[in-house]
Amino acid sequence: MIKTISTQTKGLHGTLFIPGDKSISHRALLFGAAAQGTTEIKGLLEGEDVLCTAEALRKLGARIEKNTNGLWFVTGTETFKKPDSILDMGNSGTGVRLLMGLLSSYPIQARLTGDSSLCSRPMKRITDPLTQTGAVFETTEGKLPIVMTGSEQDKPFEYTLPVASAQIKSAVLLSGLRRKSPTVVHEPIPCRDHTERMLKAFGADIAVEKDALGGNVITLHGGKRLTACPVVVPADISSAAFAIVAALITPDSEIVLPNIGINPLRTGILDVLLEMGADISFENKREIAGEPVADLRVRSSALKSVNVPAGKAPSMIDEYPILAVATAFADGKTRLNGLTELKVKESNRLQAIVDGLTRNGIEAEALPDDSIRIRGKGNNACGGGTIEAKLDHRIAMSFMVMGMASESPVVIDDVSSVATSFPDFISLMNNAGANIYDYRD
Ligand code: S3P
Repeated sequence: MIKTISTQTKGLHGTLFIPGDKSISHRALLFGAAAQGTTEIKGLLEGEDVLCTAEALRKLGARIEKNTNGLWFVTGTETFKKPDSILDMGNSGTGVRLLMGLLSSYPIQARLTGDSSLCSRPMKRITDPLTQTGAVFETTEGKLPIVMTGSEQDKPFEYTLPVASAQIKSAVLLSGLRRKSPTVVHEPIPCRDHTERMLKAFGADIAVEKDALGGNVITLHGGKRLTACPVVVPADISSAAFAIVAALITPDSEIVLPNIGINPLRTGILDVLLEMGADISFENKREIAGEPVADLRVRSSALKSVNVPAGKAPSMIDEYPILAVATAFADGKTRLNGLTELKVKESNRLQAIVDGLTRNGIEAEALPDDSIRIRGKGNNACGGGTIEAKLDHRIAMSFMVMGMASESPVVIDDVSSVATSFPDFISLMNNAGANIYDYRD
């Protein structure tokens, strides 16, 4: 069996080009596929998750091509056609959930599935609201595989998000694109707003207002087709987080990460790392195609422990595994609160974080209120464990980063999932100074 080992690194250096944002890449393909005209996409993430979405949209009638300069072109279809075969969305919750939202207003039948990780994740959070718009779903006990039939029912639809989830918010908004009647989403706790920003750029009539309690009310008036619009995808802050933490915890490191998306609803990880004492500077702040970006310079830093309140979770939901690794190297006790949603990610990340840290000699405990307590060592006296990645790219990458700064190497049983979001992770990190390699066990 091939395993992957990450051993201690002397220092990370250079300019690392992080791949395109996964959330924005999915949306660019999905919206382009429904829009009138051809959408040009620069910087699309060519990870397996996004490529699965592209393949599904082709089966539904969109034309999607890449030219020799690396630009992608999506020519939309007026109405999606019934796909000849099942739509396999691979590992991607975003792909399948947003696609269900988009398809729910077309009167066609589609079958959807995914890999074993995706087939174990809850889908009722999407099928429940979409059922209220007239779409019909046959699920497998609330999960994939699903057979769905969309509906052209045109009644106003108002929905309050039961959890802070951009995937639910987006699925509901996309269901409203063809309805003339308004779609109103109440979002008590704001979460990533790439859908709202990009729908506006594609000509949708969408407005976001603050409510009295700090949440948002999003109103979409559908009934007209989206118009193709060029998209420039910033580098993914969620992928950048692995390189950032690697440089912070590996002594004698200094790296630059150009073009990182710093949408304020995604940058919780940077706030927390700065609070821990991280040396991260923002250079060349600018806006590209409706999203704020900056070049980040990161230097090794002595980190302090931290108490992260539950309210921070929506702005850094994918970054807890790598944050947990950072806190293992920080001095003192850390507490990460409000992590219930981590249990339904690509794996049960709450458990995976605790297991992974424990196997590598760090005291970590999951508490009954779905928080995690970690006792950081303040030095590199950890590592030596083997991680079961369970098809979870972020768990695999987090513990490879742990190995870079640990006294003893860290082994990952299977890193294949990394291809879903960051296909060149290992070569990029090795070029910067890491020692990550495969071996036969
Ligand atoms: C995403 C939303 C988040 C995040 C996921 C991408 C999106 O999921 O974890 O990686 O692109 O909308 P939830 O909506 O379940 O919080």
